[in-house]
Amino acid sequence: MLKQNFCEIELQNPLVLASGIFGTSVELLNRAASNGAGAVTIKSIGPVEREGNPNPTVVEIEKGLYNAVGLPTPGYLNMDEELKQWKDINVPLIASIYGSSIEDYVNITEHIQKFKPAIIELNISCPNKDDGMVFAKSPGLTKDLVKAVKSTTDIPIMPKLTPNCDNISQVAIACEAAGADAICAINTVQKEIIHPKLKAPLLSYGKGGISGPVIREIALEKVREIRDAVEIPILGVGGVTYGKGAIEMIKAGASLVGIGSGVYLRGIDVFEKVTNEMKDIMKKEGIGSINELKG
Ligand SMILES: Cc1cc2nc3c(=O)[nH]c(=O)nc-3n(C[C@H](O)[C@H](O)[C@H](O)COP(=O)(O)O)c2cc1C
Repeated sequence: MLKQNFCEIELQNPLVLASGIFGTSVELLNRAASNGAGAVTIKSIGPVEREGNPNPTVVEIEKGLYNAVGLPTPGYLNMDEELKQWKDINVPLIASIYGSSIEDYVNITEHIQKFKPAIIELNISCPNKDDGMVFAKSPGLTKDLVKAVKSTTDIPIMPKLTPNCDNISQVAIACEAAGADAICAINTVQKEIIHPKLKAPLLSYGKGGISGPVIREIALEKVREIRDAVEIPILGVGGVTYGKGAIEMIKAGASLVGIGSGVYLRGIDVFEKVTNEMKDIMKKEGIGSINELKG
């Protein structure tokens, strides 16, 4: 009932662990898999060692999370022992990567493709690093980047977009024109939240990205805009914590549904809970498969 094919990859169900929730450790990623995730995404890895932002980096807000972790990474060349274990992950693995230049993305892709991830996600949309959204705010730069990465590898490429840009459809069209195989949307929504009593920013970075149910409507709207602009499949992420939300995301045009903050809010078995809820709703509505849901 929930099986899904995405970029010619078979998934047992459409739910995907979103990037940044369980780091890059194979044990944790496999815990998500054994708790029902159809695929898992690693925390984005970058070009050189980076500590990330000082604490506090993640706080709970009403209906969601607010984070500015700032992409800590050992650097892709210092991770081979971990990358070698990717083959032990029990579901398709999405390797999320970031960089500051086209060269960074190309170099990381060249290296990690040896470890055979199912899909490479280009994180071009992180709001918590000074140059984190440079590409995803510009259709032209995104097109050049995707073209360069596509000419480096045969592994499916999936840029991850931000709602914090002028026109997400134009960025999606640029991705498709450059040969992207899929699109992931959305990353966290950039905000500057000031503590009302302390009159100081909640996070040490000053600003951050919100996620969880508080961004669900934004994510749905952006997925609809992308669906209307391109033919390539969409991994819809943002605010999904229950089966009803996952079904809405698919009805909005997503083929797969990412869950990030939902893991914090409902526990690691959120994937099993959501798949069961989806099955119940689909049975009640007389729907036999995900593609029927998409309409
Ligand atoms: C603590 C935290 C860390 C994150 N780290 C990354 C990351 O490294 N790379 C990335 O592309 N997205 C990252 N994200 C964004 C999520 O993958 C996801 O796009 C976003 O949280 C919206 O989904 P959600 O509402 O289900 O959480 C992070 C989100 C959170 C909450």
